[in-house]
Amino acid sequence: MKAIDLRQKYLKFFQTKNHKVIPSASLIPENDPTVLFTTAGMHPLVPFLLGQKHPLGKRIVDVQKCIRTGDIDEVGDNSHLTFFEMLGNWSLGDYFKEEAINWSYEFLTDKKWLNLDPERLAISVFKGDKDAPKDEFSFNTWLSLGIKKERIAFLPKKDNWWGPAGATGPCGPDTEMFYWASNEKVPKVFDPEDNRWFEIWNNVFMEYNKNKEGKYELLKQKNVDTGMGVERTTAILQGKDSVFDTEVFLPIITKIKEMAEIEKETKEQLRSIRIIADHLRAASFILGDEKRITPSNVEQGYVLRRLIRKSIRHGRLLGINNNFTMEIAKSIIPIYKNQYEELGKYKSFIFEELDKEEEKFRKTIDKGTRRFESIISNLKSKTIPGEEAFHLYDTYGFPIELTKELANEKGFKIDEKTFEIEFKKHQEKSRLGTEKKFASGLADHSINTTKLHTATHLLHQALRNVLGDKVQQKGSNITPERLRFDFSYDNKMTDEQIKKVESIVNEQIKKSIEVKREEMSPSEAKTKGALGFFESKYGDKVSVYSVGNFSKEICTGPHVNNTKEIGKFKIVKEEAVAAGIRRIRAIIE
Ligand code: ALA
Repeated sequence: MKAIDLRQKYLKFFQTKNHKVIPSASLIPENDPTVLFTTAGMHPLVPFLLGQKHPLGKRIVDVQKCIRTGDIDEVGDNSHLTFFEMLGNWSLGDYFKEEAINWSYEFLTDKKWLNLDPERLAISVFKGDKDAPKDEFSFNTWLSLGIKKERIAFLPKKDNWWGPAGATGPCGPDTEMFYWASNEKVPKVFDPEDNRWFEIWNNVFMEYNKNKEGKYELLKQKNVDTGMGVERTTAILQGKDSVFDTEVFLPIITKIKEMAEIEKETKEQLRSIRIIADHLRAASFILGDEKRITPSNVEQGYVLRRLIRKSIRHGRLLGINNNFTMEIAKSIIPIYKNQYEELGKYKSFIFEELDKEEEKFRKTIDKGTRRFESIISNLKSKTIPGEEAFHLYDTYGFPIELTKELANEKGFKIDEKTFEIEFKKHQEKSRLGTEKKFASGLADHSINTTKLHTATHLLHQALRNVLGDKVQQKGSNITPERLRFDFSYDNKMTDEQIKKVESIVNEQIKKSIEVKREEMSPSEAKTKGALGFFESKYGDKVSVYSVGNFSKEICTGPHVNNTKEIGKFKIVKEEAVAAGIRRIRAIIE
């Protein structure tokens, strides 16, 4: 079974259980600054898990693009990936544990579906603690399906609890399914420490909300959120040891080996090949996202930059010294372009940005190498001081791994202890900055973020009134303190234009207009003139928010009920973020 068959089977199975298919949301969370990337299928669905009505009903199924950077240093082994696809079925206050577990079992073991041997399954359930009770119900449901009790483990929160995706939000105990993929005899008893038991699916029973005080309160509704990794499950179904051995990676791996002129790779080389394949796949998806992220030194752009640069470094280790990232991306796009149209649509953008970043990094490498040569020519010993290595990293953007490589070649060593100390100091500083920045956001639906969110809609329309219809939303990021809005426009706004936009928004606020929400098909929304620029992301039905006759936009919400709740709107900054893209920061007073 190929990845494409697995996706199709999954969607079809849950359609037979009355689920509606929704398309994958963007990799960049909309209006949620608590995380940089969509890390799980639940992320775009948070408002609905909290009780907002979903236009397609209470049962949803999807394949979501995800990026996780938490284990980025593990990439290169058999199973870790930065980008992956997650299959998920959702109950938004509808069915709960019994149906979810029964359907998981049916999908995994039934001949019509995955046809996995039930004798090779093991299960974990939540052990219970002060926040939530032991999950006897799930345990008994699994027993009733014929799973032996020796194959079911009760585990604590660190293993069997999922969420919230940000600092606060929906979460709950989960039950996880494992499969014995090894050729060795299946053990009678499930040992969760034995990594030959491969996790394939997670059913989360989201009935709690973690609040700002860190307390778990019961949600208004009981939800189910599940997650099955496409790449991992495909590997298991094909009897492969590694996610890199399936058809979604083989063309990429082949291309890398071809460019490096490697026939039979060493273990070290295999790791580099896998890192390049994973990182450039993730980079292509980030660049191919509707949100138009480019390499930079902040936020998503910084992660993107690191992914590309690390690939180039590993390319060097394989002996590839010319630009190659674009060529690798050319082998990635055909694998996914039917599934994710945006990759095909933004193909040239992906290629150009990769090539530009590669060019830039090669210059960095050249400059850093010259600096390195001058450092060692002035040294009396064979040890490069940690401060020098850090300076190379901090000021020249020269990765420490490269410094080590060069040092090795020339018979030098780095004083790594001092480097570490300098590095930690720096990290602390930047972490403090980041934590402050992502302290909270729309994920917790605070009153302020909701006000700013409605203000964003007014701003969007006011900009179009003043600057013309070329203005289109390119991104939005809202914290309780401020809104940030990116839009397409070629010139710097004049002071007069800024004043005008500001006063239009404030006029709408003063008029005390009711904010209305309706559900309709995307085409009806378009006919009615609703703004919405992330078209490939809409399902069969969308919510449209209108502010009188002034603004109409496709959006998930939430919004204030009346514009008078917003307060006084003020633009504090207008600047360029990329060619043809401007950014406005605004607050309410
Ligand atoms: N959100 C759950 C996970 O990512 C399903 O495992």
